Amino acid sequence: MLEQAGLTTRQSPFVEHERHEGHVFIEQPYELYSEANQEAWRKLFSRMRPRWDRYANARFLEGIDLLHLDPARIPRLTDINRRLGPLTGFEAKAVSGYIPAFLFFDCLRNRRFPTTVTIRPAGALAYLPEPDIFHDVAGHVPMHTDKAFAATLVRFGECARTAAEIAAGIHDPDERVHRLSSIMRAMARFFWFTIEFGLMKSPDGLRVYGSGLLSSFGEIEHAIAAPDVQRYPLQPEWVINQGFAIDRYQPLLFVVDSFDHLFTLVDTLEKWMRSGKLNHVAPGEPEVNEKDLNSFLSGMR
Ligand SMILES: [Fe+2]
Repeated sequence: MLEQAGLTTRQSPFVEHERHEGHVFIEQPYELYSEANQEAWRKLFSRMRPRWDRYANARFLEGIDLLHLDPARIPRLTDINRRLGPLTGFEAKAVSGYIPAFLFFDCLRNRRFPTTVTIRPAGALAYLPEPDIFHDVAGHVPMHTDKAFAATLVRFGECARTAAEIAAGIHDPDERVHRLSSIMRAMARFFWFTIEFGLMKSPDGLRVYGSGLLSSFGEIEHAIAAPDVQRYPLQPEWVINQGFAIDRYQPLLFVVDSFDHLFTLVDTLEKWMRSGKLNHVAPGEPEVNEKDLNSFLSGMR
């Protein structure tokens, strides 16, 4: 029965069982992928390939080659990690689903990337609100072969620790929750507009490095080519105050010069966190949920 169901998003008894047992980190049960799962990967990969060639950042394309991603088969994380480890020390770590925000960032700090193992149904390739292995492995992981990008992710992880440290130092409980929620909102916005939806300058014009775009057949083109998308140089003071909706193509995107530039921006984020500049960012999306908040509150314990 398990084998028949495969590892399909929202329909995977294996993953549901692991989650039910409280297992956050799991092994990728490769033998459970069904033929339909493999077909979903093939279709997703083959239609993305020409769009990557046209719109993706050069380091992403190199990453696809360095990892030997197979267009025909869902990758084994052990194969990926064998190639990825020597390059940047990063590792794709299989998880059973959503993990609380602090734990997610702390994984990044330790160069582990929480990776979804399920794949969207072969008949619904277009839009998926939750991550799947195509988003995580074909959208995120190739970027982790780049040293400056990898260092930026680690810096995000360090920011989360700084946030938890700051929160632990605030005595009044209401004040603690208020300030921490604001800092978390700023971090989530920053992550969204860079790691998930970032654009970068290149000698040939704008290119995509954000994984939300790199794993979306429709939006990768829309992000670069649609005349009504607003594309502005990334200003941290704007990004930390800018809400976003996750259920539509992004009408506003931010551009960085390089991965070294991106690293310095995350550095700025941490400095601002320490100086109190993130304590009252604009309200709005994303809402900070209780589980994520608690993960930060107990993060330093
Ligand atoms: Fe993502």
